[in-house]
Amino acid sequence: MSERTPVIAGNWKMFKTNTEAAAYVAEFLALVVDAGPVEIVLCPPFTCLEAVRRELADGRVRVAAQNMHFEAEGAYTGEVSAPMLKEIGVTDVVLGHSERRQYFCENDADLARKTSTALAAGIRPILCVGESDREREAGGTNDKLKGQLEGGLAGISADQLPEMLIAYEPIWAIGTGKTATPEIAEETIAFIRGALAGQFGPQAARRVRILYGGSVNPGNIGELMKAENIDGALVGGASLDAAGFARIIRFKEA
Ligand code: PGA
Repeated sequence: MSERTPVIAGNWKMFKTNTEAAAYVAEFLALVVDAGPVEIVLCPPFTCLEAVRRELADGRVRVAAQNMHFEAEGAYTGEVSAPMLKEIGVTDVVLGHSERRQYFCENDADLARKTSTALAAGIRPILCVGESDREREAGGTNDKLKGQLEGGLAGISADQLPEMLIAYEPIWAIGTGKTATPEIAEETIAFIRGALAGQFGPQAARRVRILYGGSVNPGNIGELMKAENIDGALVGGASLDAAGFARIIRFKEA
C-alpha cells in the first residue's frame, strides 16, 4: 500500500429494497463510524440512493449510483442523469461494470461520455475495466485493459485523472469465489498504472487510486491491501452483509 488513501466500495448490484437498505445502514454506520482513514462508498440501487444518502448525513460514507446516462435530460426511457443524481447528494458513480458491458451493451465510447459528464457534474466516476478468462488465457489481458482505458478515458485530462477511481475487476473473479491472487492483482494493477502513465503522464498515474474487485471478502482483503499498487476494493456479494462489509473496511485491524 502507498500514501494514497484507501477506498473500499460496496456494490449492492440489484439487491435490497428501501426497507432492507434502512436496516443495513443503521447497523453499518455504528460499525464503521470510528474506522481509520479509509474512504467508504456504498453503491445501492437507484431506488435507495436518496434514503441511504439521508441516513448517512454525517458524510462519513460516500454514496454511489451504479450507472448514469451521459445526457443531462432527454427521451431516454429508463435512464437517470448526472443532475438528477447530484441533486439528491450522490457523490460517486460506478461506470462500465462488466455486467453493464455484458448485459446492457455498454461500450467504451459511451463510457468516455459518461466519465466526462460525471466529472463535469462533480460526481466521481469509478471506471471498471477487466478481462475475461478467455482473454487472460490467450495472453490478451494487457491489450484488453489498454483498450478499455484509452476508450473509456478518451475525453478527460491529466488533471482530472486523480479525481476519479479506476476499478480493475477481472470478469472471471466476479461473483465466482475465485479471487485473483494478490500477485496477479498487483501485477495487473501495476500494468494499468503504467498504461495510465503513458496516457496521462507519471504524476497523474501515481496519484490516481486503482481498486481491485472480484470475490473480495473479509478473509482475503488484508493480503490484497498489502500490495503496492492496490488502493482499495470494489466489493460485490460480501458488501451485502453490514457486519461482513465492516470487517472488510477495518482490514487493518484484522
Ligand atoms: P463480487 O463482485 O465481489 O461479488 O465478486 C464484485 C463486483 O462485481 O463489483
